[in-house]
Amino acid sequence: MRILVINGPNINMLGIREPDIYGKGSYADLCSIIESYAAEKGVEVKLFQSNHEGSIVDEIQAAYGKFDGIVINPAAYTHTSVAILDALKAVALPAVEIHISDVSAREDFRQISYAGKACEKSFIGLGFAGYLRGIDYLIEKYGG
Ligand code: DQA
Repeated sequence: MRILVINGPNINMLGIREPDIYGKGSYADLCSIIESYAAEKGVEVKLFQSNHEGSIVDEIQAAYGKFDGIVINPAAYTHTSVAILDALKAVALPAVEIHISDVSAREDFRQISYAGKACEKSFIGLGFAGYLRGIDYLIEKYGG
């Protein structure tokens, strides 16, 4: 099984960025946690991070026919991007939405998730573990 893990803007700043909200782990730490977990579970993962909306759209489009599922934290684009929502719908791959922080307990502008409308499941406020739960969900539902 091949899973694409996409992270949006400022996720590369983990560890430096608002550690009280996002924790002290870096993006490199997040990548190694995901890579080790995927290896343990016997799934292939590709990790992609971009600060650019169009690059995320390109990556989702390129996943068509190459990946079996997408784990995505669109970060701030969650709350603004119809383009990412449309790209997820276009490829129609099973997708899972992740947020490191509990967006439901934060500002009003974080209460809408466009990408989430194309995702089967959301794991929110679980820190880095949310990505692993997302991988588990895809394996359990589509890994057979
Ligand atoms: C985030 C939550 C978003 O509201 C925010 O813009 C982010 C990170 C999270 O993982 O908690 O950049 O997606």
